[in-house]
Amino acid sequence: MTQTRRGFLRNVGIAGGAGVMFNTMGALGLSPAASAETPPFTPLDRSGLQRHGRKKVIVMGGGIAGLTTAYELLKGGYSVTVLEGRNRPGGRNWTVRGGDTHTDLNGRTQRARFSRDQYMNAGPGRIPQMHVTIDYCRELGVPIEVFTNQNADAFLYRENVPGALNGVPVRQRAVKADAYGYTAELLAKATDQGALDAELTPEDKEALISYLRSFGAINSANEYVGGGRRGYDPQPGAHLEAGTPLPQYDISDLFRSTLGNYFSFEMGFDQAMMMFQPVGGMDRIAYALAAAVGIRNVRYNAEIVEYRNTTDGVEVLYRGPEGTRKVSGDFAVNTMPPHIAARIPSNLPAEVVTALGSVSKTNAGKIGIEYERRWWEEDFRIYGGITNANTNVGNVWHPSYGYNGRRGTMIGYYNTGANANFYGALTPEQRFREAVTQGKKIFGDVYGEKVHSHFSQDWASAKFSEAAWVGWPSAVGGQTGAGYQSLLGPTANIYFAGDHLSHAIAWQHGAMTSARATVAQIHERVMA
Ligand code: PHE
Repeated sequence: MTQTRRGFLRNVGIAGGAGVMFNTMGALGLSPAASAETPPFTPLDRSGLQRHGRKKVIVMGGGIAGLTTAYELLKGGYSVTVLEGRNRPGGRNWTVRGGDTHTDLNGRTQRARFSRDQYMNAGPGRIPQMHVTIDYCRELGVPIEVFTNQNADAFLYRENVPGALNGVPVRQRAVKADAYGYTAELLAKATDQGALDAELTPEDKEALISYLRSFGAINSANEYVGGGRRGYDPQPGAHLEAGTPLPQYDISDLFRSTLGNYFSFEMGFDQAMMMFQPVGGMDRIAYALAAAVGIRNVRYNAEIVEYRNTTDGVEVLYRGPEGTRKVSGDFAVNTMPPHIAARIPSNLPAEVVTALGSVSKTNAGKIGIEYERRWWEEDFRIYGGITNANTNVGNVWHPSYGYNGRRGTMIGYYNTGANANFYGALTPEQRFREAVTQGKKIFGDVYGEKVHSHFSQDWASAKFSEAAWVGWPSAVGGQTGAGYQSLLGPTANIYFAGDHLSHAIAWQHGAMTSARATVAQIHERVMA
């Protein structure tokens, strides 16, 4: 490159003034606005529809993709019928409260006994601030509150690792301070010893050292000697109590434990704070969407058994309380999980069915444990956030609601893949006992004490889901493969939508943006 980015921007600024400069920065992805936008979407305009007659769309599935599809189509003056197999809206967006019952595909029935105002989000539980999900909350009047995805005082736990930190629960702030501190020390020393002379000018080296001082809290001799940021015992207090910083971990123990590797999580585009949750449970979004769509437009307990393109529209057969019924429309939007859609009889071409069935399924599991006291707050001063372990529990979510209250419901484990399958194979009682065995290693006996009730969800054995989310294996070309791409447009009059047809898989944002894209395609076709 003959011109640096900085130099280029300076030249644009001179030639065109600040406005041009700001827009150019946006195009280069440098302005603050560039990263704050969700994909463009113009809500449908019903004014044109009269000319074309009122079109009817059958929406297959009443999860977030289906409900968003129906909601946006209704805005545009379409007529919609949503067919949903479950007796509630939302699909994987499911909040479990006292009295709810669930029978999984293995025939295990659980009845939730959570107290009033206690709940667990069995599916999605956190929303990044830049997701379109937040816009729907605003539009639908669903109040949101902070979901704490990161807490310096939550624990990390690693076992079967080399060194003295094996099997020791540690506070995140302590690990982070040490990992940053030792990294800064080593890099500062290397810089001062000339190891980076080929890369850096003397001024750059000085600037780097200054950065490392602040990053790692190293002293003027470039040494990390711990300090208050990693925690105190006792902590600073009244009068002469200056606090005693806890001693740092040994550098070799620290890095070999892999504990420091956890902090990439909080840098993730979609896991960085701020994150949010609807007040009262994630399903507030599903119910708000369903209410906006209107009860007359949604059929629950409607299990789709066959669907087909006809010469000028679609036909969908479903089994409901009154037996098997047929609905027809001009178009259908199939939002079912692709692995389920693939095995339901249809007249889709074989390649499309193959594409639907080519996904790889990921399982996830959660247990909600209601305690009669908020011991993580009272005993450990952990107010929200996540404790992470390399045991089969994976993640423990300390609730981001009801702080300092009498009761609280923790997510005792949230895990995926093999760990989720391991728990899924157990009975609910066995799952709870295993979670307690593992949880005690981190928190001690309190993890198993004063338990009011528990409820666990295994998404692989959940009817109408059969997975937590899916991926597109590289063997079928991933999301650039012909199979994936064949589902991005209609097959005759049948369209597809869902988070699986987005680059935000396993997020409601993916379901919503995919639904919007499909709605726009339908409308464009109708108006043409
Ligand atoms: N959205 C889910 C979650 O936040 C699944 C997911 C995890 C997606 C991590 C991307 C990254 O738990």
